[in-house]
Amino acid sequence: MRYDPTFYGGAAVHYRYGRPPYSPGLEALLVEELGLDGCGRFLDVGCGPGILTVRLAHLFEASVGLDPDPAMIAEGRRAAEEQEVASISWVLARAEELPGAAPGPYRLVAFGQSFYWTDEIAVAEAVYDMVEPGGALALIGHRAEGRAQPPSPGPPRIPHDEIRELVQSYLGSTRRAGQGVAPVQALSLRDALASTRFGAPRVIFSPGISNHLEDIEGVLSNYFSMSFAAPHLFGDRLEDFAEEARELLRERSPEGVFWDWPGDTEVMLVRK
Ligand SMILES: C[S@@+](CC[C@H](N)C(=O)[O-])C[C@H]1O[C@@H](n2cnc3c(N)ncnc32)[C@H](O)[C@@H]1O
Repeated sequence: MRYDPTFYGGAAVHYRYGRPPYSPGLEALLVEELGLDGCGRFLDVGCGPGILTVRLAHLFEASVGLDPDPAMIAEGRRAAEEQEVASISWVLARAEELPGAAPGPYRLVAFGQSFYWTDEIAVAEAVYDMVEPGGALALIGHRAEGRAQPPSPGPPRIPHDEIRELVQSYLGSTRRAGQGVAPVQALSLRDALASTRFGAPRVIFSPGISNHLEDIEGVLSNYFSMSFAAPHLFGDRLEDFAEEARELLRERSPEGVFWDWPGDTEVMLVRK
């Protein structure tokens, strides 16, 4: 897929605040599956604002966060500084520039909701040559479909259908991405991996957070952090959209608190 630097235009500052976190059990799952012991190197491809880079850095000697969006990398650096994590280097590049942009070897190369943005098969093949023997590639994301949804801890669920409708009333019904429309995926992530030297992945789940709450600005940031509703797409109607969304959300929850269920955290794992 051709990279467009505006895919996440204006989204970076909303990302950490708006996106629900991955499962609290993610570290334990990776330690158990991969025998992580603080040694080796970690590469986080399409790291965005360093969600996984910063969170997993303590499981490795050194880590690299790689992303082509300078605003995302700036957010990652900021988070690492705030959390006093000094073992990360940041690389401004596309996955397709691997291995040159961030040469191996790595014990783990992860893609957190980012593999589908890349030329999947070519990138996975490049990664195969970059991981050490026994090393792994992991695709990490949220999976709600087919997973048991927990009950709400009380507040109403984010009215996603209504907000998506509002987004469409501003941006049209075709899902946008950068200056164009969102790409159609030819292969599932599983099939893409299965067609590489890594072979078919093992799919493992770690329970998602069942009581994740967002306030109204958090819900807005959640949408602004996504490519199909990134701030740049709204142009000079951004504030109109934000106000309409706030009004809708105030109607649905006068207390201004919402529950979100991102799903369980799915890890698709392949080993070399
Ligand atoms: C949904 S965000 C994921 C951020 C983070 N990894 C996470 O787990 O939340 C997708 C990221 O992929 C990046 N991206 C888009 N195209 C890419 C490419 N060709 N190579 C590497 N990263 C890319 C975007 O800039 C964005 O930061």
